[in-house]
Amino acid sequence: MDFSIKAFSTKNAIAEQKTDCVVVGVFENGKLTPSAALFDDKGSLLAAIKGGDITGKAGSTLLLQRPAANAKRVLLVGLGADGSVTDRNFLSAAQAVARALSSLGAKDALLALPLDAAQGRDMQWGLRALTLALRESVYRTDALKSKKDDGASGVKKIAFAVDAAQQSAAKLALSQSVAIANGMELTKTLGNLPPNICTPTYLASTAKQLAKDHKFGVEVLDRKQLEALKMGSFLSVTHGSEQPPKFIVLKHMGGKAKDAPVVLVGKGITFDTGGISLKPGAGMDEMKYDMCGAGSVLGTFRAIGEMQLKLNVIGVIPTCENMPSGRATRPGDIVTSMSGQTIEILNTDAEGRLILCDALTYVERFKPAAVVDIATLTGACVTALGHHNTGLFTRHDDAHDALANELIKAGKSTNDTAWRMPIEDVYQEQLKSNFADIANIGGPPGGSITAACFLERFTRKYTWAHLDIAGTAWKSGAAKGATGRPVPMLTAFLMERAKK
Ligand code: BES
Ligand code: MN
Ligand code: ZN
Repeated sequence: MDFSIKAFSTKNAIAEQKTDCVVVGVFENGKLTPSAALFDDKGSLLAAIKGGDITGKAGSTLLLQRPAANAKRVLLVGLGADGSVTDRNFLSAAQAVARALSSLGAKDALLALPLDAAQGRDMQWGLRALTLALRESVYRTDALKSKKDDGASGVKKIAFAVDAAQQSAAKLALSQSVAIANGMELTKTLGNLPPNICTPTYLASTAKQLAKDHKFGVEVLDRKQLEALKMGSFLSVTHGSEQPPKFIVLKHMGGKAKDAPVVLVGKGITFDTGGISLKPGAGMDEMKYDMCGAGSVLGTFRAIGEMQLKLNVIGVIPTCENMPSGRATRPGDIVTSMSGQTIEILNTDAEGRLILCDALTYVERFKPAAVVDIATLTGACVTALGHHNTGLFTRHDDAHDALANELIKAGKSTNDTAWRMPIEDVYQEQLKSNFADIANIGGPPGGSITAACFLERFTRKYTWAHLDIAGTAWKSGAAKGATGRPVPMLTAFLMERAKK
């Protein structure tokens, strides 16, 4: 999809633009937006509204042929109530536009919508919402089918109409939106790949390719080096697998040399069988998505690489499979983590925390400004928050409240929201072990919280947040597929940090 900005110095100039399809808005009271009115020289738009062909309800659409001199087609889209368009309204209008354009014969389209129509939102926000919706609508999951969609239909060239005064701001917002879309696309593609292709080695070579494309520093540690680092917890998860584990470190040093980096740590279990604590068979294929934390780190790196973000960011990905075998870790095994803390593994299916804890110890060396880990960590988080909000966990002090608020705000601004959960000390008691410093499970009550409490013990040397994306990283059912979340939240969070 090819996006561009078209700036117009007068409002009326838009109507002189020759286009295959112009997309304009109508409100619920039947009122056309100012640019829509410009394309109604024959009165056919208002006639269609009066005739009840479109209500203006958010997400409703109507296609008209040749209603105006210069437009072959006008796509009218409902935006909701004039003066009180909500985020939801605008997003469903954006999705409706994307859906309509994806099955249209037009060569190009001019989007002449009020990009700042949603209450409290600016042009940048509207432009990003539309760009992400349009890119989502053309994402394909048929790469491995022997017969693919030919991809011939649908509008390929999209221009956003803006005021001349906003031209450069819009161009910047567009390039940032495309970078986020590209990052999400990488995250989705990695998530959707089958686990026999998307192995730890595959993730490592993806990281190396990204590093080449964007001049990141990259390092991939193998089993021998992980042994030397005494990552006994991470390594315990790898024992049942034939696939060699990898530990990926990516560095985007876009800030000042002396500035402390933000570190992103992504869970990279390329397939989670549960190990000896084997999962039930139904739906187990979805555990190919257990590397979506890792995928979101790589996607976010693609986004910040493309936008050449002026911030130091380090990405760390422990990646392996969790498989049963004669050599696999047993329930009851006690291992020593890189931090020195011993762990009684009561359930080999609680493996995410076992690989993350050593990565969280490893990143101490970077003296981070903040560490955010991203993990499909617990089914309990899905039970708690469903598929809308990512679970956000931090300690409860001022520095951590501030970090939590940054992430919540970044999520809200990109429609990729998180909800904060508690990790008070009382929950730590559920992780007591008679035989080791800590057990790797805390029983069913508050399962996502005790998982976060486990990680918390390895993060006391820096400011840290944990994102449990078990409910938000992919969709099940007929629309099964990775969502690309939380790349928008993470990228927006880093973009805000880069401004400081
Ligand atoms: N990868 C899973 C978490 C998961 C399960 C995410 C289902 C999304 C959907 C994780 O490794 C896991 O198995 N967690 C266990 C923890 C339990 C054994 C304490 C879980 O959630 O059941
Ligand atoms: Mn598991
Ligand atoms: Zn897992």
